[in-house]
Amino acid sequence: MEIKINATAQPKEKPADESKLGFGRIFCDHMLLIDYDRAKGWHNARIEPYAPIELDPAAACLHYGQMIFEGLKAYHGNDEGIYLFRAVENFKRLNNSARRVCMPELDANLGMEALKKLILLDREWIPKARGTSLYIRPTMIAIEPFLGVQAANKYLFYIIIGPVGSYYSEGLSPVKIYVEDKYVRAVPGGTGEAKTGGNYAASLLPAKEAKEKGFAQVLWLDGCEKMYVEEVGTMNMFFVIDGEVITAPLTGSVLSGITRDSVIRIVRDWGLKMEERLLSIGEVVAAASNGNLKEAFGTGTAAVISPVGQITYKDKDYVIASGKMGELSQKLYDEIVAIQYAEKPDPYGWVEKIG
Ligand code: COI
Repeated sequence: MEIKINATAQPKEKPADESKLGFGRIFCDHMLLIDYDRAKGWHNARIEPYAPIELDPAAACLHYGQMIFEGLKAYHGNDEGIYLFRAVENFKRLNNSARRVCMPELDANLGMEALKKLILLDREWIPKARGTSLYIRPTMIAIEPFLGVQAANKYLFYIIIGPVGSYYSEGLSPVKIYVEDKYVRAVPGGTGEAKTGGNYAASLLPAKEAKEKGFAQVLWLDGCEKMYVEEVGTMNMFFVIDGEVITAPLTGSVLSGITRDSVIRIVRDWGLKMEERLLSIGEVVAAASNGNLKEAFGTGTAAVISPVGQITYKDKDYVIASGKMGELSQKLYDEIVAIQYAEKPDPYGWVEKIG
């Protein structure tokens, strides 16, 4: 499919200070759009100046949340090259999410081609400082104006991009996490595995209450028994207990994180014991109390590797790794970031130089 380019005549001013980018507030000059309807399938792929999109107030996504998204990054390497990290995996996951909420799948090759064109057009926006990158948000929304509760016949896929620094204002300083035992995020058979907006809407009140108590995020327990640790919502979680690295298995209520998958692979290659298994919060706090919980960290595209310095469960605080970034967390961060910025050879074939 041809991707038409209508470049802006009025480029915006780029951020002057790369240390103050924050996350998700600055957007580049252009965006990519592709239309879908049942008769024509995906058509009219185009890159346009970044601007508000027009939506009918009855558009299905505004009423029943039929929308999905992805998050990935492009990196500016030391060799001035532009690199993507496992981007095809994001398009595969987008299609898994699409199936769960009855949206049309998008050909991953088309998605990749469109993405590369967009990034290269706005390549001057990609920040260069270590820890900064170009955040990419592929999004699909149902746009048919119809108030019946059923899958829409018309969709819009778009990609917006923007320079970012670290997701948490703490940067690489360990965050404090509240173990949520009142609200739940997902249940087996629900939509927890899909990257759909409603999952995130459901997390806002618990996150707000946790923030008021001084926590960066909540750690979700399984929705049935509130017993097993699942994920943090913006990241998957890993715990290092008794020399074993443990993360929740993908049983349908946990997002299948691409950084999660990368960490599992690297940890195994380093010869460490890596387990994807049910881990009860009881086991975590017992290990924290007797000194066997050596580290805890989250993984995600936005968060990369984010150390957890404290968890609080039923009003009891458990400090982890003396509140500092643990040795393994640091080593994993260094390894993944070095691969992403193409600073060291990539034995996995995860990075792609696109320009
Ligand atoms: C990401 O890590 O890219 C995410 O999508 C998580 C979040 C910012 C919603």
